[in-house]
Amino acid sequence: MALKHTPYHAAMLLSSLLIISSSQFLCVKALDYNSAASLSTSWLNHPSQMVNSTELAFVTPILLRKTNGPWFMCGFYCKMDGRSCLFGVLIFQNLNTTYLQFPQLVWSANRNTPVQTHAALHLRQDGELVLKNFDHTVVWSSNTGGKPVSGLNLTETGNLVLFGKNNETIWQSFDHPTDSLLWGQKLVPGQKLRASVSESNMSEGLFSLSVTPDGLLAYMESNPPQRYYTSRFHEGRSFAFNKGRFYRWDIPYNSSAQILKFAPEGHLKVHQLDSDGMHWKVVADLLRPEAGDCGYPMVCGRYGVCKQGQCDCPHAANYRSNFFRQMDSRHPNLGCSPLAPISCDRAKDQSFLELKSTYYFAFDSSSYNHGTGLGECKNSCLNNCSCKAALFLYGGNATSQGGCLLLNEVFSIINNENHAVSVHNTTLFVKVSNVKNSRQSKATLLLTLGAFSASLCVVGCCLFLFRKRLKESKEIEMDLLDHLPGMPTRYSYEMLKKMTENFSRKLGQGGFGSVYEGILDNGTKIAVKYLDGFGQVKDSFLVEVNTIGSIHHINLVKLVGYCSEKSHRLLVYEYMANGSLDTWIFGGTEKSPLPWHTRRKIILDIAKGLAYLHEECCQKIIHFDVKPQNVLLDQNFNAKVSDFGLSKLLEKDQSRVVTRMRGTPGYLAPEWLHSAGMTEKVDVYSFGVVIMEIICGRRNVDWSMTGENSHLLDVFKRKALEETLQDIVDKKSEDVLIHMEEAIDMMKIAAWCLQSDINRRPSMSLVVKALEGLVTAETNLNYDFTNSSVVNMVTTAAEEKEAVDDATPLLPSVLSGPR
Ligand SMILES: *[C@@H]1O[C@H](CO)[C@@H](O)[C@H](O)[C@H]1NC(C)=O
Ligand SMILES: *[C@@H]1O[C@H](CO)[C@@H](O)[C@H](O)[C@H]1NC(C)=O
Ligand SMILES: *[C@@H]1O[C@H](CO)[C@@H](O)[C@H](O)[C@H]1NC(C)=O
Ligand SMILES: *[C@@H]1O[C@H](CO)[C@@H](O)[C@H](O)[C@H]1NC(C)=O
Ligand SMILES: *[C@@H]1O[C@H](CO)[C@@H](O)[C@H](O)[C@H]1NC(C)=O
Ligand SMILES: *[C@@H]1O[C@H](CO)[C@@H](O)[C@H](O)[C@H]1NC(C)=O
Ligand SMILES: *[C@@H]1O[C@H](CO)[C@@H](O)[C@H](O)[C@H]1NC(C)=O
Ligand SMILES: *[C@@H]1O[C@H](CO)[C@@H](O)[C@H](O)[C@H]1NC(C)=O
Ligand SMILES: *[C@@H]1O[C@H](CO)[C@@H](O)[C@H](O)[C@H]1NC(C)=O
Repeated sequence: MALKHTPYHAAMLLSSLLIISSSQFLCVKALDYNSAASLSTSWLNHPSQMVNSTELAFVTPILLRKTNGPWFMCGFYCKMDGRSCLFGVLIFQNLNTTYLQFPQLVWSANRNTPVQTHAALHLRQDGELVLKNFDHTVVWSSNTGGKPVSGLNLTETGNLVLFGKNNETIWQSFDHPTDSLLWGQKLVPGQKLRASVSESNMSEGLFSLSVTPDGLLAYMESNPPQRYYTSRFHEGRSFAFNKGRFYRWDIPYNSSAQILKFAPEGHLKVHQLDSDGMHWKVVADLLRPEAGDCGYPMVCGRYGVCKQGQCDCPHAANYRSNFFRQMDSRHPNLGCSPLAPISCDRAKDQSFLELKSTYYFAFDSSSYNHGTGLGECKNSCLNNCSCKAALFLYGGNATSQGGCLLLNEVFSIINNENHAVSVHNTTLFVKVSNVKNSRQSKATLLLTLGAFSASLCVVGCCLFLFRKRLKESKEIEMDLLDHLPGMPTRYSYEMLKKMTENFSRKLGQGGFGSVYEGILDNGTKIAVKYLDGFGQVKDSFLVEVNTIGSIHHINLVKLVGYCSEKSHRLLVYEYMANGSLDTWIFGGTEKSPLPWHTRRKIILDIAKGLAYLHEECCQKIIHFDVKPQNVLLDQNFNAKVSDFGLSKLLEKDQSRVVTRMRGTPGYLAPEWLHSAGMTEKVDVYSFGVVIMEIICGRRNVDWSMTGENSHLLDVFKRKALEETLQDIVDKKSEDVLIHMEEAIDMMKIAAWCLQSDINRRPSMSLVVKALEGLVTAETNLNYDFTNSSVVNMVTTAAEEKEAVDDATPLLPSVLSGPR
């Protein structure tokens, strides 16, 4: 195999070797696949082809169609985790590289039910195309069984076709559009484009665009549907997407590939591939609601009021009473939620919040009851449990007559003070609950109970009780935390703002949020982490704060306080004078290199901290993100592990799973990709990487190095086989030469931790013993750190992924601890 000297090839070295022996797919070969297939063929989903894209992904190619313009591929498209793969058609620009560059998934068979690795596509003898998951459940089928199919073809236009004896089309993907159209593809009455949930989740989202005898309609898939765009130009119009045209819109074009995509926010956009083949640029945004951007139903989220592009919550005219709060105060466009829920059985407690000069997108002449009186309109909403708001249009001369629209679901509201829309004098009456926050009285009532449990708690391990009671009353929980000795202190947002001088001294920035320096009243320095986007996490936040706060170990960064107020979530940590480890070991700073004995001590400190988390805590804690950025150093270079326990919050906040993963590529154990249950051994693996980085004074993946050296574990393997490990020890470490033997022994411990067979990896307590010289590392280690009987093909993908990610900071997961 001829390897070219690019960083990517080097990164793939290990995995490629594996692939050759075990599979027909070769990453380092130019793309070469058939463009058609005959009956009785099956393909197994074994993601092998790397994708360079805005998200980390891999594909299992099935068919490839090369054209003079863009290329098309049909196959499995898999997310980073390897557990959500879609079978579909991709469009991309051929750049004559060994991996796909920025492909777009333009059609998918199973967008709502992703499959896993080892799923299979069968083109059966009877003419049916069937997609089965790894457990053989049928996920999708073309329903062509028994029809005279003679083969499968991926055409020049990107159409996946089941054709018959005379090349006639029996089934085609163009008849089943998902959210995109390709040049030459047509939307016919009865068909619709359904937008995805988000850019990263192809499942069917909230918006639909369909062709009906009435024209082109865009609407929310609510019950009943709410239209936000209607175009009645129909006669003689074609709904085919062609070069330069779709329906009544002209579209700029040249020879670059384009797709028409109904985007997750309800926009209909034309994306065009840049001449560099790496970026998809929006060249047209076709639907234009009358109110402009404010006319899109979710532009400000549910209940959000849109005014000239700005989002706010509905307020009473005098601002005296508040009925809504922002879901996330730093992201107003996520919408608002009622302070008190509107429940059916308390109808008598409900009234309307009157929003004058507002308009609602779903209002159009055909969708409201003409000639209703205002009182009648309000009453019919008040008397109907499913009604959440009523829009009233004041009529011409009789003040009591007008138009009335009842809404079961309230999406974004348009502020019409500046006449954004031409329909004037409409008022939205939003149903609200008059029941004032009954929190206060409830809290007092439960306080006695709370105090009682508190004394119980202090005695024993109280986590369990906390959890249970949290469900009963979170207010009580807050009070209790304040009073428990040894528990983190609750600070108000105002206090923290003051202590950090309005968050002015930033220490670092990471995936969970930014860290600021602050000073307590008694002069102690602190590090305040402002968690980003955890606004919704409430109960679990307190539980985790409680858990993290109860952990005290010399090698773990101590949580001294927290703040949970409105949507602010902050954690207050002890201040670590020397910042994070990465700034000391990777060079590039003016800091002097750490001497060998300090490095040795740091490695032992980290091991002890992790061993405590895994084995000595009340409750086992897996860190999931062990890396030098999460190791902090105090003024005496004692190392402490930070950011533990936070990944639990991520787990609980389901909405984030989509966009954020735990862990950092480059430090991820191979089993990340294919095993469902993670064990604490993932930390042991990451720790092995960290040992190597500390000893070698370089990053695991470093693209500034030449090809074969860019991947430290790769170099490690080579040097181990050549028995020249001393070559890679960081010589900047002044006293290392006299401790070379010790350094090499320590690398053997690292190799032990890096075993891809998790059963061969030691526990952290065993690592501590090995580092202290009480036991010796296992011999006969496997230096192929991603190769073993338990690691299958997918693992190789993991390795490649690491490489990709470290080269381009694609994931927002560079977590940083307080510094
Ligand atoms: C991957 O895409 C990025 C653009 O985001 C580009 O800079 C990089 O060169 C690409 N990688 C390769 C190997 O082409
Ligand atoms: C693609 O790259 C290969 C190897 O570098 C080269 O032989 C081939 O001519 C290239 N093809 C095109 C179309 O540039
Ligand atoms: C497959 O598609 C290609 C390209 O569109 C076309 O030239 C060819 O005739 C098709 N083959 C069959 C068997 O339909
Ligand atoms: C079907 O298409 C294939 C490939 O394009 C071609 O070789 C064959 O002659 C066509 N058959 C008929 C019956 O048109
Ligand atoms: C097509 O136009 C875009 C800008 O609209 C430009 O970036 C691109 O280079 C053009 N492509 C070609 C092949 O001319
Ligand atoms: C309440 O409103 C919904 C939809 O607006 C309607 O289907 C239902 O019949 C109404 N119920 C009553 C009791 O009027
Ligand atoms: C206004 O009032 C007049 C007289 O009552 C009536 O004839 C006319 O139809 C009304 N116009 C509208 C728009 O209701
Ligand atoms: C809207 O109509 C009501 C009732 O006719 C009237 O009192 C009010 O002044 C009108 N408001 C505007 C801004 O026209
Ligand atoms: C994608 O969105 C759907 C619908 O909201 C959700 O059920 C699913 O879990 C999401 N998928 C992922 C991978 O988050």
